[in-house]
Amino acid sequence: MPDRPYVIDRMISAKEIAARIEALADEIHAEFAGCGKLVVVGLLRGSFVFIADLVRELDMNVEVDFIETSSYGNSTESSREVRIVKDLSSDIEGRDVLVVEDIVDTGHTLSHVLNLLHSRSPNKLKTIALLDKPSRREADICADWIGFEIPDEFVVGYGIDFAQRNRNLPYIGKVRFTGE
Ligand code: IMP
Ligand code: MG
Repeated sequence: MPDRPYVIDRMISAKEIAARIEALADEIHAEFAGCGKLVVVGLLRGSFVFIADLVRELDMNVEVDFIETSSYGNSTESSREVRIVKDLSSDIEGRDVLVVEDIVDTGHTLSHVLNLLHSRSPNKLKTIALLDKPSRREADICADWIGFEIPDEFVVGYGIDFAQRNRNLPYIGKVRFTGE
């Protein structure tokens, strides 16, 4: 699959992403105003660019932590099995937590992670996803904040990969296979 030739069609520009993050940061700031220190939890690896830009727009005390789940492997199809590959370093009991995801697709990843984090009794647990593909949803879940709703397309860039490639694109593009 990753060896099939493809091109990337631009979908969301770096400028559009930056503007959306500024607006989202205002809403997050309002939600967590007064909380001592917000624990911002990025889901590795796809959220690493988003979380870096998001926390720099948050004018408050934040602690950054990461959790890694098993990924798609080298395919564009989701797996319903979610495994924790790397757990949090911090104890989140009684704390305010914001989970940062790149894309909510079937929703199994976010659902699994939220169940796990809920079981650790945080004070408040909220979620933000840069992209949402609602037409693909299987798990009954939605993020509290969404950057952009997108159609059922396989996308890359801004941290998001196709078989570990294209994470370093500054914009979001959709994968279009060629030469068929
Ligand atoms: P879910 O468990 O099906 O919601 O999938 C979530 C994860 O699948 C996301 O965090 C992404 O890492 C990955 N994923 C979903 N859609 C895409 C895509 O279009 N491109 C690259 N990765 C994707
Ligand atoms: Mg991911």
